Amino acid sequence: MRNSNRARLANKFAACIAGGLLSLMQMASAQTLVDSDEQVQRGEYLARAGNCMGCHTARGGEPYAGGRKLNTPFGEFVTSNLTPDNETGIGRWSGEDFWQALHYGKSKDGRYLYPAFPYTEYTKVTRPDADAIFAYLRSLPPVVQTNPPHKISSPYDNQTLLFLWRKWYFKEGVYQLDKSKSAEWNRGNYLVQGLGHCNACHMPRNVWGASQDDQLTGGKIMGSYWYAPSLISPLEAGVGEWPIEDIVELLSTGINSHAVTSGSMATIVRQSLQYLSDDDIRSIAVYLQSLGEKKDHAKEPRKARKIPERVRQYLALGQEVYEKHCQDCHGQSGEGKPKIYPPLAGNRSVTMSSPLNAIRSVLYGGYPPATAGNPRPYGMPPYQHFIRDIEIAQVVSYIRNAWGNSGSLVSPDDVDNSRGNEF
Ligand code: HEC
Ligand code: HEC
Ligand code: HEC
Repeated sequence: MRNSNRARLANKFAACIAGGLLSLMQMASAQTLVDSDEQVQRGEYLARAGNCMGCHTARGGEPYAGGRKLNTPFGEFVTSNLTPDNETGIGRWSGEDFWQALHYGKSKDGRYLYPAFPYTEYTKVTRPDADAIFAYLRSLPPVVQTNPPHKISSPYDNQTLLFLWRKWYFKEGVYQLDKSKSAEWNRGNYLVQGLGHCNACHMPRNVWGASQDDQLTGGKIMGSYWYAPSLISPLEAGVGEWPIEDIVELLSTGINSHAVTSGSMATIVRQSLQYLSDDDIRSIAVYLQSLGEKKDHAKEPRKARKIPERVRQYLALGQEVYEKHCQDCHGQSGEGKPKIYPPLAGNRSVTMSSPLNAIRSVLYGGYPPATAGNPRPYGMPPYQHFIRDIEIAQVVSYIRNAWGNSGSLVSPDDVDNSRGNEF
């Protein structure tokens, strides 16, 4: 009796343990499912932050199947198929292969990748974040698509040269926390220097296409006719004196009451930044604000300059063009209409030392990005076939010097040299 009782108890106990184990196992497997779903979603979000799709999708092509052509002074690069097709994509890649590509710039077959793929920035990305992006890419429908080879000019089509380039200019390494700074600042720094690859455009480049310093001091974008302004200088796009809310609004909606994103920056907001969470955009804003230098107010206000008569005439012609073609939108005193037409008075995109972007805005017109916060942006018409280069030169010179603005004069040659439809 006692024995059988004991046996019953033992059986019950065993059943209990087995049941417990079973439910633990069920929980565990449910957990891994939830985890991997979560991982895929996290990966999708992170891929947005890195704008992987923007580069790895051809115009009108299947998302992530590659084939987009990037023109650079070194030749034409073609982006790769990142869908999990076994033959033409990354279907046979392991997590380690993917890590080697994102972190070291090395393909599965051991070939060094060209830095037209901004792994020089993505190397800052942590392993768990890289794994999540990989999980997301593997969850995509495979697309069979063989992309054409790069057309690289000699001598850049040379792996030895690329090897040397990497030795000189590529610093591999995951982002290191700066413990003296807040978690928010660190998150912003991580996103800006890593996935956001802001440096890829906002850093000056030498003739080898390598960044000249490690700072976001601005530069002409390689192979593109846009100037990415300094994110440090208060004379360009440094936001050291902006309230956080203004920075957040510009980055997430593409426009605020005193600035607007255009050209390739509008593309970055449209394809990437507008999808980031409020917390992440805030972190980026906090970091950018800390980078921005303050204006030297001692140097202001500027003394009224004595303008030579010939310059005065040139600017007066520009004013005529302005009153005829521009004033309706940008206002008599260049004040614009908040969040509809950007002000030109006091606008650093107009006054900064490089007139390139201002000229391009007039030549090609453009739209701020359509975003949830600004779903139907007002556009600006292109003027290249409408008014002559000399008139464009005059009107841009005028807006750079009217209403308290101050900038160098622009010539018809400057206008012609700013042509080129590449982004
Ligand atoms: C500015 C454009 C650009 C962006 C943004 C970009 N890539 Fe690429 N990527 C390229 C180019 C160009 C290549 C081809 C490089 C080569 O073949 O040497 C490439 C190659 C790759 C490769 C190697 C493929 C292979 O077959 O070897 C991987 C993996 C990759 N990218 C992943 C990503 C991920 C993940 C992101 C987002 C975090 C991303 N890329 C964002 C331009 C880009
Ligand atoms: C593909 C190139 C490219 C990338 C990547 C890029 N930018 Fe820009 N950015 C530009 C260009 C070009 C401009 C100038 C046009 C304009 O004013 O919008 C610009 C302008 C800006 C401005 C000033 C906007 C204004 O008009 O006041 C800010 C702020 C800025 N970028 C921040 C960033 C941040 C933060 C990142 C990374 C998350 C980033 N950019 C990534 C090209 C780029
Ligand atoms: C129909 C209204 C309209 C007219 C007319 C117009 N603009 Fe604009 N302008 C805009 C809008 C909208 C933008 C923002 C475009 C963008 O984000 O790409 C803009 C942007 C600009 C910019 C870039 C400002 C910045 O912050 O990046 C400049 C410079 C400019 N306009 C100058 C002119 C000049 C000069 C003329 C006349 C030759 C003119 N505009 C005519 C609506 C207009």
